[in-house]
Amino acid sequence: MTSARKIKPLVAGNWKMNGVKAALGEAHKVREALAGGSTRPSAVDVMLCPPATLISPLAQGAAGGSLLIGGQDCHVKASGAHTGDISAEMLADAGASAVIVGHSERRMDHGEMDRDVRAKAEAAHRAGLTAIICVGETAGERAIGLTLTVIGRQLAGSVPKGATAANTVIAYEPVWAIGTGLTPTAADVAEVHQFMRQTLGKQLGETAGTMRLLYGGSVKASNAKELMAVANVDGALVGGASLKADDFCGILAAYVD
Ligand code: 13P
Repeated sequence: MTSARKIKPLVAGNWKMNGVKAALGEAHKVREALAGGSTRPSAVDVMLCPPATLISPLAQGAAGGSLLIGGQDCHVKASGAHTGDISAEMLADAGASAVIVGHSERRMDHGEMDRDVRAKAEAAHRAGLTAIICVGETAGERAIGLTLTVIGRQLAGSVPKGATAANTVIAYEPVWAIGTGLTPTAADVAEVHQFMRQTLGKQLGETAGTMRLLYGGSVKASNAKELMAVANVDGALVGGASLKADDFCGILAAYVD
């Protein structure tokens, strides 16, 4: 299955606001699993996005291996008087190669709008980071049939003109599926991902054909194989199940033939 893919999948773990130094042990176990070859690191890119406090030690520990490191958010500016914020340049300096922007928890907790998300994605590109741009509808929007309308609006507003398959990943995360144990059906995911591929094609041209489109929301070892097999699903953005190496590696196993 994996050898036929034209897009190398990415499985990224978003630790959210979880993990102190002791959690580095879990990252170490993931690294060992990748080095051991049991999850075929050549067939899938694997990333962990820890809290900012752990990026540097994680990156140092991961040096020389295949585990990628990402941040969870960045400021739009490179530096300045913005107490408490972290720039994309700082994430890159700490050892990150990517940053999640526009996660629904940022959109809700911090009132981030599509234009803010786009500016953050542009900041990520400026710093040489891959922007992992999140989109997704709420339960209420879904209930009244607005899923594709919302996703279309978020893609139009959040994805910068300069986005390419090399510098941008899109993550479809239905808000109602995050941390709830609920997931859309494979058919629903297929519909949204096909829509995203087409919409991005109109927005960005040919590069959209090979842009990685991740699914996120209650992905776990038991459902990963089915979800990852859906057309136009090029990997996963994983929350809760990325905190324990065994759970996370169980998801990576979806990509082992
Ligand atoms: P869960 O996998 O815990 O549902 O979280 C998904 C998510 O928000 C990843 O960014």
